[in-house]
Amino acid sequence: MKTKMHLAFDLSWTHLQGRWCQPGSWTGRTYPDLGIFREIAMIAERGCIDMMFFGDGTGVPSTWRGSPEEAVRWGIGWPRQDMSGYIATLAQDVKNVGFGITYSSTFMHPFYVSRLLNSLDHLSNGRIAFNVVASTRRADAANYGFDELMEHDLRYERMEEFIHVCKSLWASVAPDAFVWDRDTGIVIADPKKVQAINHVGQFFKVKGPLSCVPSPQGRPVLIQAGGSGRGIKASANFADHVFGSGKPIKQKVKHRQELDAELIAQGRDPSKVGILWDVIVVVGETEGEAKRRRELMLTAIPFEAAGAFISHAAGYDFSKLPARFTPKEINEQIAASNASPVGFVHQLGLKIGENTEMTREEFFEYGLRSATGYDHTFAGTAAQVADHFEEEFEATGSRGGFMIAHPQATPRELLNVVDFLVPELQRRGRFRKSYEGKTLMENLAG
Ligand SMILES: Cc1cc2nc3c(=O)[nH]c(=O)nc-3n(C[C@H](O)[C@H](O)[C@H](O)COP(=O)(O)O)c2cc1C
Repeated sequence: MKTKMHLAFDLSWTHLQGRWCQPGSWTGRTYPDLGIFREIAMIAERGCIDMMFFGDGTGVPSTWRGSPEEAVRWGIGWPRQDMSGYIATLAQDVKNVGFGITYSSTFMHPFYVSRLLNSLDHLSNGRIAFNVVASTRRADAANYGFDELMEHDLRYERMEEFIHVCKSLWASVAPDAFVWDRDTGIVIADPKKVQAINHVGQFFKVKGPLSCVPSPQGRPVLIQAGGSGRGIKASANFADHVFGSGKPIKQKVKHRQELDAELIAQGRDPSKVGILWDVIVVVGETEGEAKRRRELMLTAIPFEAAGAFISHAAGYDFSKLPARFTPKEINEQIAASNASPVGFVHQLGLKIGENTEMTREEFFEYGLRSATGYDHTFAGTAAQVADHFEEEFEATGSRGGFMIAHPQATPRELLNVVDFLVPELQRRGRFRKSYEGKTLMENLAG
């Protein structure tokens, strides 16, 4: 029997970077209308999708020309609602699909986040995943009182302590502690089943216990997406599953190998930890139709807006680029500023050679193609996309699956995934025909 894949659907960008007005995006409603997400959740559940994912970032991109003007004008990385309330509501409409939500361990406090996620896990009957991120963007940092980004590796030290505190809090009340005995009025028969955690660490001091009833999963599924060496080490430290960025297959294989080596070094079983690879696909009834729709991506936003997007992500004002330069020179400056060393410019270096000289104009061509997702988009029929998925899945150890990321137009892309791609993967024995488990943790296992 073939190993099955898992599929998540990314809603982080669906209303941004011009996607909201592409043909195939919802009409008659504007973000953040709940109805948009209700419709999407029902389609996802019909397709047995594992999880709807909501990424996050809280700042208005303002690195480009030192101003938020273009980001605000074109809806670049902004606006974003906090999705916790939406998830609580959607969880009442659909009964199987899971929900991934993102909070920053760089800025937030573990007591607040662990309590919030406990409630969401109750309201969804155990279908919550927590994507914990070490924030790389200055505009986000500025909302939480930081003038500069915390040093890259220190952010991961803080993340590991943050998760350690959360896990201690989630375990601070035993799953069978509550008896709620109506006759005697006793709530907890054995008070020893509720314990303070008395955590004192480098970043946090938390007494505990968590002021909550243990939730169906006990704790949310933990997901982490760090792509640097230190980020991968943090994944190995605590993640149940990992998000991997949409890079060339060789880099994916390397990521998998590095993660496996770290998991073994930390005494964990690599066969239990899947990677969901971030993949942009346009699935068409014919190849020509898929490719035609892919071309539309390049019309979604103008150059200025693409500049705002990539400058925000890299923490570098690309409007100030010299006339000629190499990706290596620019990436060294990005890494020195404590932003991620494995972002867009690093990826560009891998593609064209880090010491290859390029002009500003050439760079912005790449920038537009990256900001719109064009460059990383696989466009084809369901059979072609399924071939592509199977090849990457097998090359990276047949654990995890894919997150359909940055969809060009929603609900159109999701409908095409559910109605064309999912049946093709099912026919090949690569995807479930019904949900096997009750919780997200159970559905993502294996
Ligand atoms: C699929 C995926 C989802 C991500 N979601 C978010 C997010 O919602 N918010 C965020 O700030 N970063 C997000 N990231 C960025 C990662 O958390 C991480 O910072 C990035 O991969 C760079 O790795 P490094 O921090 O190890 O340098 C995501 C990355 C991937 C691949």
